[in-house]
Amino acid sequence: MTTLAPTGATPQHGSTTKKPFGKTPDGQPVDLFVLTNKGGAEASITNYGGAVVSLKVPDRNGKLVDVVLGYDTLDGYVNDKAYLGAIVGRYGNRIAHAQFVLDGKTYALAKNNGDNSLHGGIKGFNKAVWTAKTFSARDGQSVELSYLSKDGEEGFPGNLKVTVTYTLTDANALRIEYSATADKKTVVNLTNHSYFNLAGQGSGDILGHLLTIQADQFTPVDSSLIPTGELRDVMGTPFDFHKPTAIGARINHDDEQLKLGGGYDHNFVLRMPMDHGEYLAARVLEPASGRVLEVWTTEPGVQFYTGNFLDGKTPGKGGHTYPRRNAFCLETQHFPDSPNQPKFPSVVLNPGERYHTVTTYKFSTEK
Ligand code: GLA
Repeated sequence: MTTLAPTGATPQHGSTTKKPFGKTPDGQPVDLFVLTNKGGAEASITNYGGAVVSLKVPDRNGKLVDVVLGYDTLDGYVNDKAYLGAIVGRYGNRIAHAQFVLDGKTYALAKNNGDNSLHGGIKGFNKAVWTAKTFSARDGQSVELSYLSKDGEEGFPGNLKVTVTYTLTDANALRIEYSATADKKTVVNLTNHSYFNLAGQGSGDILGHLLTIQADQFTPVDSSLIPTGELRDVMGTPFDFHKPTAIGARINHDDEQLKLGGGYDHNFVLRMPMDHGEYLAARVLEPASGRVLEVWTTEPGVQFYTGNFLDGKTPGKGGHTYPRRNAFCLETQHFPDSPNQPKFPSVVLNPGERYHTVTTYKFSTEK
């Protein structure tokens, strides 16, 4: 184990340590970076898929628990099909019929979700080994991950240079900054796929967590979870989270959209302020522990997913398994299938432009 940033003479400074996390099947060594802030909160991140492996934050009495699902070993991530904690790209979420047109040219992508492309394809960014660099930021500890996605990878045009920087701040926030540049016109939509359970990973379902989403509309889907193109008002539907509402309160309602998703698996259209800075997208409270998660982002959408495809069969951390609805995801993003939906905000990145988005998961507690 190597200490990379000074722990300092006093415990009020954070620290970062690096540990070997094993080798990929093709022999590449992978590390685990453990970022600790001055209050003792801790984020462990691997450069395999850029996954957040664990995230320990306090409850209202200061007790730290790990609030994200994950695996104890690299093998877990190599075999993972649920994207636990991972960076998702080049295109997070679905692209219909795994194809899109740019400047009159049709690009055929790898199909890995029925007829569609999901989360970057067969070998998305979640299965890549990223180059890592650690440093102390002004407000916490950072690990910067870089990856070059080659022209044609999974069918996407252009070499894409991607950098994702995770910072665990001293205020108990995990900030994620995504940047990318391309040498050809392409599409990009990056997100993080952490599965949260604010009572602790492996502690049961998340149906009692209270959720607020700053959205007046969501994007209804068809049977393959591709948006129909409609922006539908949440008012009067089980998708209305204007007021804090238990995730499980309406999840089994006889609602066409909930049936199609097997629960919530939908993109919400965030009420975005004009200035385009980071703004509050969603808030979740776990009443028993008092833990609160706020999601701040520069993105126009968030995929609220209730772990409907988790099946409890794959062993997770500390001997836990993760049955259906044992966690929720709030994947900040541009809307699914945007490359084929001219009315959705554009995901096109031109050469010479810089893709840059920020999402921060802020943790606090409530009495
Ligand atoms: C996203 C999708 C879901 C599912 C998960 C990963 O949230 O919208 O349908 O594919 O990722 O299992």
